[in-house]
Amino acid sequence: MSPTAMVDKKTYNIASIPADGIGPEVISAGIDVLNALGDQLQTFGFKFTNYDWSSETYKKTGKYIPDNGLEQLKKHDAIFFGAVGAPDVPDHISLWGLRLAICQPFQQYANVRPTRILKGTQSPLRNCKSGDLDWIIIRENSEGEYAGHGGRSHLGQPWETATEVSIFTRHGITRLMRFAFEMAQKRPRKRLTVVTKSNAQRNGMVLWDEVASDVAKGFPDVTVDKMLVDAMTVRMTLKPESLDTIVATNLHADILSDLAAALAGSIGIAPTSNLDPTREYPSMFEPIHGSAFDITGKGVANPVATFWTAAEMLAWLGEEDASIKLMQAVESVCEAGILSADLGGKATTKEVTAAVVREIQKFTVKSA
Ligand SMILES: NC(=O)c1ccc[n+]([C@@H]2O[C@H](COP(=O)([O-])OP(=O)(O)OC[C@H]3O[C@@H](n4cnc5c(N)ncnc54)[C@H](O)[C@@H]3O)[C@@H](O)[C@H]2O)c1
Repeated sequence: MSPTAMVDKKTYNIASIPADGIGPEVISAGIDVLNALGDQLQTFGFKFTNYDWSSETYKKTGKYIPDNGLEQLKKHDAIFFGAVGAPDVPDHISLWGLRLAICQPFQQYANVRPTRILKGTQSPLRNCKSGDLDWIIIRENSEGEYAGHGGRSHLGQPWETATEVSIFTRHGITRLMRFAFEMAQKRPRKRLTVVTKSNAQRNGMVLWDEVASDVAKGFPDVTVDKMLVDAMTVRMTLKPESLDTIVATNLHADILSDLAAALAGSIGIAPTSNLDPTREYPSMFEPIHGSAFDITGKGVANPVATFWTAAEMLAWLGEEDASIKLMQAVESVCEAGILSADLGGKATTKEVTAAVVREIQKFTVKSA
């Protein structure tokens, strides 16, 4: 490499939090692939800082994130996250202790979940071809059903009471709807489906619908329709080609995006971006899946969700070309039949990763 290229090369400062279960296995695969891409393209590189914040840390110290931990995270360009959750820690402690403890203070209010059928893979839907299912689900990621409002009283009594209060604010819905409309506007079909449950939930969900129609007035070129969440599951399954960009609340999109991943072939391929669109805080990128206790340590976790997540992170950092190239490499590997067990193949995590690295090494290096 020439000295000029050395000077021009950008280095992205990435915080990696592999955390629990298969998290460390897939994040290590993702780092290998990102480093291979940086080495091959020579226009950027990465400095990864590993944070060992996990359920093991929690069991030893009583905290997932140490004091001043968020201050350390703020210094990074992005966060590359594995999965949190352990069999011997209640799930609400692990989720609120680590993942939500980053998303909420960092105001990563837009959670973006693309789904499509990758080349060389199949949908479980009999008649669904690759172009028929190509969605982006935008999940509200800062309030709604996961706002953290509620409490328990009269513990252990027959009259024990618990509340889980959904919070919907005009501010929170408006910023998310604008983001969703802008996303829909950038896609060729310019179509947005607003998921709701305003028939049964007559306050928060009615505000959600009203704000959606107000924001829609600023996007006359976007075709909008509204679906009740229950009917949405039917439409996703029977008419996948009728959907494009989808916006839903924190809980609804959490559920619908697992369904989306399964309809596209496996939860093992699905990525997520937790974005702070203002870019005041670093955004966080993670596969949709959890810790997957049943396959932890077996070396069979599908790393594709993490590779796709890495591609989404590259695009957010402004490396669009590298992002497209990474997905080309992943799809070439899938097309060659190098698939993990969840996609019907026999390849291990390491074999899929090595195959993607080999594809990356075929890319032409730009001359300085
Ligand atoms: N964002 C997160 O950190 C996150 C998300 C979901 C669940 N969780 C936590 O993970 C733990 C397990 O949750 P769960 O079982 O409901 O969901 P899960 O996603 O961990 O696993 C569901 C099923 O999908 C399979 N699977 C998941 N990822 C895979 C991959 N990459 N390759 C192949 N197969 C894969 C698993 O083997 C399992 O059979 C719980 O503690 C839960 O709270 C964390």
